[in-house]
Amino acid sequence: MEVYVYGTGCGAGELIDTVLPAERVAAFVDGSPQSDRFLGRPVISPEELAARHYDLILVTTRAAAAVAARCDALGIDPDRLFFLKNHAELCDRNRCWNKAEAVLGADFVASLRGSQRLIRRPLWSEGETLDEADLEGDYVRLKTLEVLCRELQNVPGAIAELGVYRGSFARCLNTLLPDRTLFLFDTFSGFDEKESAGCGAGFVDAHRNTAAELVLARLPHPERARIRQGLFPAAAEGLEDERFALVSLDVDLEESTYQGLQWFLPRLNAGGCLLLHDYNSPRLPGVRTALRRYETEHGRLHAVPLCDVNGTLVIVV
Ligand SMILES: C[S@@+](CC[C@H](N)C(=O)[O-])C[C@H]1O[C@@H](n2cnc3c(N)ncnc32)[C@H](O)[C@@H]1O
Repeated sequence: MEVYVYGTGCGAGELIDTVLPAERVAAFVDGSPQSDRFLGRPVISPEELAARHYDLILVTTRAAAAVAARCDALGIDPDRLFFLKNHAELCDRNRCWNKAEAVLGADFVASLRGSQRLIRRPLWSEGETLDEADLEGDYVRLKTLEVLCRELQNVPGAIAELGVYRGSFARCLNTLLPDRTLFLFDTFSGFDEKESAGCGAGFVDAHRNTAAELVLARLPHPERARIRQGLFPAAAEGLEDERFALVSLDVDLEESTYQGLQWFLPRLNAGGCLLLHDYNSPRLPGVRTALRRYETEHGRLHAVPLCDVNGTLVIVV
């Protein structure tokens, strides 16, 4: 069976690390590739895919609607697309469950069936600020951000994200708080080698697939962004007097998460908050360990966990 994987981001990396050996992938497909190889396999464009023979296309990006539209425009058979990441409406889109089962295994596919449910939108928040493609990635996470940003209107300070990757969440921050300075901290070339030594090759390689220019090009108000490229906390040098209203901390691993908590929490203004991504993620236990380490040293934080895809913790001061 000719199997293609759509996406060269962390969804694709995770798939290769867990259920699909890279050798089984004919090629990865990417609409704006960072490189022509990923995990030792070729990377091709959607146009090239349309011209090839394919049996199954596993879509690992969160923007399912955009991928479906692009494939439709290229005449790619929708019955051979299998979406892995869209939690809002995946059951409606996927039609080739048997083929997916043959390639990914019955247990993995059954776990997907169980976790994909339609999330109904609240009646009180008609008229989205974020667009459809943003929201479908993780509706609860992004809708919470939207309502939180309204509450932060009277809290002074800049906003920041530590762990930007390709800028999906940074784009939402920049959309929702267009008047605020947005500090973006990342190496833009992946994790610290030592810190990520025990992680899967797919996870590590996928996070190298980005660039600061790519992130800036996705922002609606790039003039507000201040790119801080390099390893944190060294990359924050010179910003010691800065104050923040909202911080997104999303670096996956323990030591960097701990450093982020140490640096940002004392710089949050009253009424502000820090969103700790992956706090309840069983795949990234270092995040919770870092939080506990911080609390052991500084005392219990005021925090509320969200029921979003990866278990964000909202820390308030
Ligand atoms: C999960 S990704 C961030 C995803 C992003 N917040 C989003 O929602 O689209 C984690 C990012 O953290 C970055 N990172 C991890 N540790 C870091 C550190 N110590 N300094 C700078 N960047 C770091 C990695 O390079 C990677 O891009």
